Amino acid sequence: MKVNGTHYRSLWWSNTDNVLEIIDQRWLPHELRVQQVGTMQDFANAISEMRVRGAPLIGATAAYGMALAMAEDSSNANLDSAWTFLEKTRPTAINLRWALNRCREYLRPMPESERAAAALKLAHEIADEDVEINRNIGVNGLEIIRQIAANKPAGEPVQLLTHCNAGWLATVDWGTATSPMFHAHDAGIDLHVWVDETRPRNQGALTAWELVSHGVPHTYITDNAGGHLMQHGQVDMVIVGTDRTTRRGDVCNKIGTYLKALAAKDNGVPFYVALPSPTIDWTVSDGVAEIPIEQRNLRETTHIQGKTDDGTIVSVQVSPDGTPGGNPAFDVTPNHLVTGLITERGISKATEAGLTELFPEFA
Ligand code: MRU
Repeated sequence: MKVNGTHYRSLWWSNTDNVLEIIDQRWLPHELRVQQVGTMQDFANAISEMRVRGAPLIGATAAYGMALAMAEDSSNANLDSAWTFLEKTRPTAINLRWALNRCREYLRPMPESERAAAALKLAHEIADEDVEINRNIGVNGLEIIRQIAANKPAGEPVQLLTHCNAGWLATVDWGTATSPMFHAHDAGIDLHVWVDETRPRNQGALTAWELVSHGVPHTYITDNAGGHLMQHGQVDMVIVGTDRTTRRGDVCNKIGTYLKALAAKDNGVPFYVALPSPTIDWTVSDGVAEIPIEQRNLRETTHIQGKTDDGTIVSVQVSPDGTPGGNPAFDVTPNHLVTGLITERGISKATEAGLTELFPEFA
C-alpha cells in the first residue's frame, strides 16, 4: 500500500544487493526505517524481535530465510537445520511452520545444485501469493460491509472495530482485516474504524498509521473502550486477523481479541475474522487446549515506547519498581463467538463443515 504516495510492500527483494529488505516495524509509526536481512541470525532476530510481525509476513520472511540457507549450503543437513533454526523464532502463528514446511517439501527431492535458485523463486511465489490472497479477502469482505452500509440511515458511516494490526504491515500487502476496509473505502462506502491501541506493543498504532496513509477515517481508542462503544450502538461489525485458526474455527489472535468477541456477542455485533488459508492449522481442533501461546518479554508490559515532543523515540517505565509483569501475547476466541471467517475463497461459518466446504482438499 502507499506511504506518502510511494507504493511499499512490507518486504521486498533488492536485485541490486541480492538481499531481502524489510520495514523495521519497531520504529513505526514514528519512523519508516528500511533494513537489509543478510544473515541467518538477522532472519531469526527480525522475526523474534518483531522487526517483521503478523502471521503472513512471518511466513514470507521465513521462506526468504530458507532461500538464504540454501544459497549458503544446499545440503539436506542444512535444509533441516535452517528449518529448526527459523521455526523456533515465534511459536503461535502457524504461517511460519506452513512456509517452512512448504519450502522443505519442495526442495528436498531436488538436486542440491538446483536448490538455491528454486528456494528464492519459491520465496517470491509465497510473497506474491500472499498479496493475492489478501486482495481476495478484501473483495469478499467488501460485500459484508456493502450490506451493512445498505441498511444504515443516510449519512451515517459503517462503524468497524479492529484489534491489533492485521494490516498490510502484517502481511506482504493489503492486510487481512484491513483489506475489506481499503476496498470499501475505495468503493466509496462511508466508513469509520475504531482502532484498539493493543497493549502492550500498541500494534493499533500501526493500523492507525496505515489508515491515515490511505485516508480512511478512524479513531484510536484504548483497549477497554470497545465494549462501551458496542453497548451504545457505535460498532456495526468487528473485523480482526488471526495467527492460527483451528479446523473447527477457533481463532487465536492478539491478546484481548477474546474479550472483544465476548462484548460483540453480548451486544449482537457481528464478529468476523479475516482468514488467509495458510493460517488454518488443519492438525488442531480445540484452540484453547492445543495452541501454544507465546509468552513475551515482561519488559513489554512494564515499559512503553513512544515519541517525545522533540521527536526522540524513548521507552519509559509505567509500572512501579519491583512489580513483575505478565505477558501472554495471544488468546483464543472459541468458534461459537465468531460470526464468520472471511477467506480468499469466500465467507465460511466458523465450523469444520464450513471450512471444509470451502477447502475440500482438507476434508
Ligand atoms: O504479535 P504480532 O504483532 O505478530 O501479532 C499479530 C496479530 O495478532 C495479527 O492480528 C495476526 O497476525 C493477523 S495478521 C494479518
